[in-house]
Order: sequence, then C-alpha cells, then structure tokens
Amino acid sequence: MTHVWTADLIAPDQDFAGAPLLRKEFDLAAGHGDVVAATLHVTAHGVVEPSINGAAVSDEVLTPGWSSYEWRLRYRSYDVTPLVAEVSVLGLALGNGWFRGRLGWSGRGAFYGSELAGLAELHVEFTDGHRQVVGTDTTWQAGPSATTANDLYDGQTIDARLTSTAWTAPGADLTGWVGVHAVEHDAGRLQPYVGPPVRRHEVLHPVKVWTSPAGATLVDFGQNLVGWLRFTVRGPVGTEITLRHAEVLEHDELGTRPLRSAKATDRFVLSGGEDVFEPTMTFHGFRYAEVTGWPGELTPDAIEAVVVHSELRRTGTLECSDELLNQLHRNVVWGLKGNFLDVPTDCPQRDERLGWTGDIAAFAPSAAYLYDVSGFLDNWLADVDLEQQHADGLVPFVVPDVLKYVDAPSDFPAPESTAIWSDAAAWVPWALWEAYGDREALARHYPAMTAHARRVEGLLSDTDLWDTGFQFGDWLDPQAPPDDPIKAKADNGVVATACYYRTLRQVSAAAEVLDRTDDASYFSALADRVHSAFGKHYVTDGGRITSDCATVYALAIEFGLLDGADRQGAGDRLAELARANGYRVSTGFAGTPFVTGALSSTGHLDDAYRLLLERECPSWLYPVTMGATTVWERWDSMLPDGTINPGEMTSFNHYALGAVADWMHRTIGGIAPLAPGYARVLVEPQPGGGLTWARGGLDTLHGRIETSWSIDGNRFQLDVTIPDGVAATVRVPGEDAVEVGAGKHHYATSLA
Ligand code: BGC
Repeated sequence: MTHVWTADLIAPDQDFAGAPLLRKEFDLAAGHGDVVAATLHVTAHGVVEPSINGAAVSDEVLTPGWSSYEWRLRYRSYDVTPLVAEVSVLGLALGNGWFRGRLGWSGRGAFYGSELAGLAELHVEFTDGHRQVVGTDTTWQAGPSATTANDLYDGQTIDARLTSTAWTAPGADLTGWVGVHAVEHDAGRLQPYVGPPVRRHEVLHPVKVWTSPAGATLVDFGQNLVGWLRFTVRGPVGTEITLRHAEVLEHDELGTRPLRSAKATDRFVLSGGEDVFEPTMTFHGFRYAEVTGWPGELTPDAIEAVVVHSELRRTGTLECSDELLNQLHRNVVWGLKGNFLDVPTDCPQRDERLGWTGDIAAFAPSAAYLYDVSGFLDNWLADVDLEQQHADGLVPFVVPDVLKYVDAPSDFPAPESTAIWSDAAAWVPWALWEAYGDREALARHYPAMTAHARRVEGLLSDTDLWDTGFQFGDWLDPQAPPDDPIKAKADNGVVATACYYRTLRQVSAAAEVLDRTDDASYFSALADRVHSAFGKHYVTDGGRITSDCATVYALAIEFGLLDGADRQGAGDRLAELARANGYRVSTGFAGTPFVTGALSSTGHLDDAYRLLLERECPSWLYPVTMGATTVWERWDSMLPDGTINPGEMTSFNHYALGAVADWMHRTIGGIAPLAPGYARVLVEPQPGGGLTWARGGLDTLHGRIETSWSIDGNRFQLDVTIPDGVAATVRVPGEDAVEVGAGKHHYATSLA
C-alpha cells in the first residue's frame, strides 16, 4: 500500500564525513494502552540504516538502493512493533550510496544532489485505537558516526575508537551534535519498493591465506563474489587494518588494474578492545583481498566474506556429466548474483557498475530461468520507462541514466537509440512475459516497448534498414582490437536491422496479448517491411548475408528473418564458419546469445556442442580452464600466460556472455517455454557433445518441471515431471513428439 508522507526530508547541518547519524528521542503516548502495531517507513538521499533503541530495524542493506531518483525514490516499510519502548530513540545512519557517491568513470559523484538526507515516519498504534506519528522534522539532531569515509567504489573507513552506542539510548550526551534542516523535495517521487531489497547471503571463508612475493598478506576466498569482508579482531588501539580487494592475481600479487579508478579499499582503525568490522556502506567485486596491518598472524578462521545482492528465489537448475560445463553454469549463476545488486549491472567491481541496458537485454532469458527475477527486473523497467518518458522515447545506454550528467569524452557517442541496448525496453519485458506470463507486467512496460519501436522507426533509412547512426553493434567481437571493442566483423546495419525486426515482432505480439489490435497490425506490418528490406539488401541467394560472419547468421536465423533454403543455407554457412574458426567463438555481445541456437535449429547440433565445449581461447570454457568462477567480460580477460588483458575494460564478472545458459537450459536440460509462464512447455533434451546425463529443473508458477536423461550405450532414457496446470510436448531424439499432462513420465529409445 502506498504510504502518504507527512514528515520532512531532513539533512544534517554538518556533513560528518559523509556518514552522519540522525536521531530523535521521544516518549510513547501515555494512557492509550499497549502498542498494537508499530510501522517504520524510511528512505534517504544516500543509503540509510535505521535503528530503534539501538536495534537494527531490518537486516536489509544499502537501502533504498539505486533508482532514477529524479522521478522515483523508493522507501521501505518495516514492522517494528517489538522494538518500541516507553522512551525510544529512532536513529538513521546515512551513507553516500549511489545518491552522492561516485558513479561512472568520470571520477565524479553527487550527481543527484550534494546533501545526504533522511526521511522516516514511525506510526504507532495503541489498544484504544490512538495513533502516534514520529517523523523526521527539524527537531531531530545530527551527529558523527565511526565511519569516516564511505563510497561504493572506493570503500569505507571505520574508526572503532569512535564507535559508540550511547547515541541510541535515551538521555544520551549529545555534545558535538548539531541541528538539521528540511530539504525541499517532491514527495510525489516516493514509492514503495517494487522489487526485492538487498541482503547479505552466503558467508565464505578463505581457502588460503599466504604471503606474496612482495610480502603482502593475501587471502583467497575461492570464489569471485560481491560483498564485503567481516571480522572480529582485537589489537592495540589505533592500529589500522587496510583491506584491498581484487578479482584476480597478476604476477602473484593483487591484480587491481581492472578496477581502474575504484579504490576498493576498506580501512579499519582498532579501538584497543574487541572490535567487529563490517563495512555496509560499500561493496566490492573480489575473490582476493590484501590485508595490511593485521595485529599478529592472519589465520583463515579470522576473516569472512559476506555475499550481498538483491533477495531472489532460485528457480532453475541444470547439471550434466561434464564438470567444465557445470562450472560454466555455476559461473553464470555467480555472475547474476554479483550483478543483481538492486540494479542489473554490467560489472560490480570497477568504476562503472552501471545498469547497461544491452547487457541485461542479452542476459534476461537466462536470468529469468535461474532465479525469479520478475520483481527485480520489473523494478528496473520502471526506471527504463521513466528515463524514456523524459527523453522522448530514447532508451539510454544505462538505467538509471547517470551518464546524462557526465561530460561525455569526445569519442563517446551522443545519446541515441542503439540496437540491443535500447532494445532492452522490449526484450526484457518480453523475456519476463515468456518466463512468468504476467499480463499486467507486460501492460506496464508496453508503452516503453512501443515508444522505443516508434523512435527507431524514425531512424530508419528510406530503404527501411536501420543502417545509420551510432551502434555498439557486435560489441566486444573477440577479433576486435582490445582497445577498440567496437570494431566488429558484423555489419552494424545488419545487426541493428535484425534486432529491430525482433523488437517489432515482440511489440506486435505484446499488442496482441494486450488486445491492442491497431498496434498489433501496425507493428506487424512494419516488421514485414523491415523483414523484406533485410532480405533485399542483406541476403543473397542461398542465405549469404552481408559481412558473412557468425553473428549475422545467428541473428538472422534466430530472429526469423530467413525462410526455406535461405535459412538452411545460412545455417550451413554458420556451421562452416564455426568449423573454419576451429570452434573458437567469433561473436560479441550481439551474436553470442544466439549462435548455439542458430546452429542447433538448422541441423548443426554437433557444431553447437563443439562450440560450447571448445577450450581454446576464445571460448566459453577457456575461462573455466583458467580457474574462472564467474563469467568474464572478455573471452580472454585473463590471457593464457596469466597476465590481465591490456584492454581498458577487463572485468572478471560480466554476465552478458553467460547468455549461452539459456540455450543450455533449453537444449541440455530440455526445458523451454511454449506458452508464457510455462503453461505449455517443450521438453526436448538434445544430447550431444559426449554428455552421458543431464538434469534440469525449474520452479514455474504452476509447480516444478523436472527432466533427467541418461545415455547408456545407445540407450537413451528420459524421466520428466510435469506439474498440474502444465501441458508438455515431449520429444526424445529420433521420435515423434508426444503431448502429455501432469505427472511423471518415462521414455526410452535407442539412439541412431
Ligand atoms: C560495459 C559494457 C557495456 C558497454 C557498452 C562497457 O563499459 O561494461 O558491458 O554494455 O560498455 O558499450
């Protein structure tokens, strides 16, 4: 329920190193009986940690996350009934977060404002029905915390000598505290959370602690993760422990160059007593940490890594007989966790961590299988919608769009619709529709889908091709020079026109679902025009496509731009190119999610498996053989000789190239939606690549779908579980499809 706010947004009269505390002491209204319910509504400019009488109000962190603050600031509402007492202290600890901290590579922060501020309203209800409201106003006070520096990119400094809980108790000595002032703001921006909050998840312990050749104490957590370090320590007062984080080692030392300007450094000054350290106003993408200043010897049991991301329910699983593929799949899962921290980001570690639209456009179908991401992405799409509404239908490169505030480098393109990136406005809602079948969610984002489609219509050439203007195109084509990732083999017009065609098909299908018949026929007619322009200008007889590289065939086949002999010819050519390239991947952001599907759907399943199972660089498994525990930004983020790719952008945690998981789910696990929300499912595992067994599982709205197949000699067996409410089409290799309903089904056949 939307809360109607009466409180003021308040800022401290002094900034207190960017981590002020706000405090209000109050008496519960007397004479009204017991407290029946108490609810706290809270948000901030910055991040906020609310407490009542010293107790944390919730275990959520980094609230209120990052939204397009200009138009939408989310708040949380907590049941705090057990926390209120006759005399109570309501406290808010603030930090810079996304609101005022650094964002992007420009070195700048404070894009949304220069002042941190808190907004809270405590509603207490008594037995006799009386209601008491304690809200932020100018009677509050502000004081310093033990955090003396905090930034999402650079890290947090906590001086335990300043740690005190006294301020949370009634009657505290508030020497040094100051007043607060109300901050003008548009209360119309305040909205409850749509998606999930951010929480702590796994806790990982070091697998190794050692001294590097340069004499540094290094810790390996065995997993590239996103979160922070936590420990309890005792040492001489004033001792400073410094923690630097990195995803990889290079030359046996911490490899921090990929972080660019992000310092990713936490500092902790000891009080002399027993101190607990947990920097909750930052986060790092790391597997390794360098610990300096630890009192005595650092042992593995002394320190732990806390994994932090949005609360998401795991729904989809896949396992098979190939351990490298299983590791690849785990890497995809960890890539999702690390980059689903309130906003779907490109990467979680360097001075970027932005909601790049193209990355999630590629990855959304894989994500929607692995986890229930409906709320998370619905929330992000709300910002896509808002950004777009304020930019004449333009879907920006990143959402929330902070780049609009940055003086773009001279070589940076002016904002305009670009294929894949802007297509996120259609592809992401469509992926959610396929996975969850939520018509209302589709309707919510339908205006954004159509606004994008219409804007691009205005960018088409007279030929009906989208062949002018800036494109990221097949970004990060592995054959592009490391410092020029935009120089792809694939023709930009082919890529953009193909992607636009896919968008138009989705938009017209969405219009049909939503009974917008005029739109449906308009966009489907436009799609037909683009289709024939594509054929006329880019396809020659036999399915050859302009720029003749894997990406253009993958897109044309998978997006339905070719028929009959052309389609088969394109598939054959794609297989030929794959073979000629020694089954090394030759596609970038555009082609990679679709290349295996284009092969398997044109009769080249073996080639698809060979591509997937290739270990030489560039390939999906090369990073796995190099010990990767997340999906890398570049196929060769780490070069075979163990040095880091010299490119400016070298992340070791980028989910985009992990979009192959979608094909793995459909083809190895054999689970693909035939109707939105899996009301009908295609169960068609396609064994290959020497796999001897695989198991897939997916929690759908209707219940869990499970598959399990194995091969013994030439005998193929498949067990399928279909929940009530789901109709399945099951196809085993070499047999006709059969239609089945709920229940457990067993199939066996002999492979040719
Ligand atoms: C990001 C990408 C993003 C790209 C756009 C990079 O810096 O990390 O993932 O999509 O820029 O070109």
